[in-house]
Amino acid sequence: MPIQIVRNDITKMTCDAIVNAANSSLLGGGGVDGAIHRAAGPKLLEECRTLGGCETGQAKITGAYDLPCKYVIHTVGPVWGGGDRGERELLCACYRNSLELAKRHKCESVAFPLISSGVYGYPKDQAIRVAMDTIGAFLAENDMTVYLVIFDKKAFQISEKLYTGIQAYIDDHYALSHRDSLRERLRRENFAGNVAAKAYHGVEAPLPASPDAAAPQSRKKKRRSIKELLARDQQMPPLEEVVRSLDESFSQMLLRKIDEKGMTDAQCYKKANIDRKLFSKIRTDVHYRPSKTTAIAFAIALELPMEETRDLLQKAGYALSHSSKFDVIIEYFILSGNYDVFQINEALFAFDQTLLGA
Ligand code: APR
Repeated sequence: MPIQIVRNDITKMTCDAIVNAANSSLLGGGGVDGAIHRAAGPKLLEECRTLGGCETGQAKITGAYDLPCKYVIHTVGPVWGGGDRGERELLCACYRNSLELAKRHKCESVAFPLISSGVYGYPKDQAIRVAMDTIGAFLAENDMTVYLVIFDKKAFQISEKLYTGIQAYIDDHYALSHRDSLRERLRRENFAGNVAAKAYHGVEAPLPASPDAAAPQSRKKKRRSIKELLARDQQMPPLEEVVRSLDESFSQMLLRKIDEKGMTDAQCYKKANIDRKLFSKIRTDVHYRPSKTTAIAFAIALELPMEETRDLLQKAGYALSHSSKFDVIIEYFILSGNYDVFQINEALFAFDQTLLGA
């Protein structure tokens, strides 16, 4: 997954480079700056002394010494002054210049703290937006794995409005003691019967019209099991013929949708926050079964409406369920027409859920 939000201490990250939220002297300080210098040891300060400081928005690179990474990229974020002194442009420049520097040093993975969101007072929800937008724009053109390292949960705030909107939707739709009702269970069993029957005989077992309609039948006579249904006709078609007549696979539907949307493969998997290697596996193996978060990430990248999202998920053997907070949050974004996978991941992170992507 090209961009990941992780909760960790950045000095523990073992990626190629970690970024330090420094001050213009580059001679150390508190916060993440202090933590990095402490973990790297005195040699880091010795090298920093040779750099002659750094301007706000710019970035400089040093060795990492006792840290478990190869480089430290020092950048100086803007001090928040209310938002009308070019703070956003300077903060964007911090991420962009640090990423360009990492690219020039052939880094394949980089970890960022939330620059300026501590001592420098940048409002955290805006700091996250700037980080995700700038990193996302860079990753649309480049292959790299980027971590946004959140040191403490309270440091991670998505916008209050978005948070309360999602929380309200969860309260309305996420059934804590959600259990499939008889109707849902029968429909699903029957659905399974339908799929198999259709695949083997081209016939559809009637779906129960309503729970009571289903209950008497299941009470009166046992619904034909799939095995009985299929054994009904003596001349069972050869299995290989049936297997050949399966529906369109996940991979086939995904590639068809990409073409229908007029997207390139790269545009789709980058928008889905999926790395190139995983996408090529899906493209080359027609029966590839992605994880649920990967399947949903592609539905989001394709901006599929709810019904088509359900179809695509079903091809991979999944369904959205109101007994899963993750699914309810995804549903909230799709129904709101918000397909920004980075914003969705920020929300999933804020609600302690798995993030979208591989
Ligand atoms: N790992 C990851 N993130 C961390 C860590 C850590 N070990 N320690 C702190 N953070 C987070 C903070 O929670 C905050 O979200 O880093 C973010 C940036 O906070 P600061 O370190 O205060 O950096 P900043 O707001 O950019 O202010 C820079 O502070 O430390 C001094 O010398 C530095 O003068 C400069 C100023």
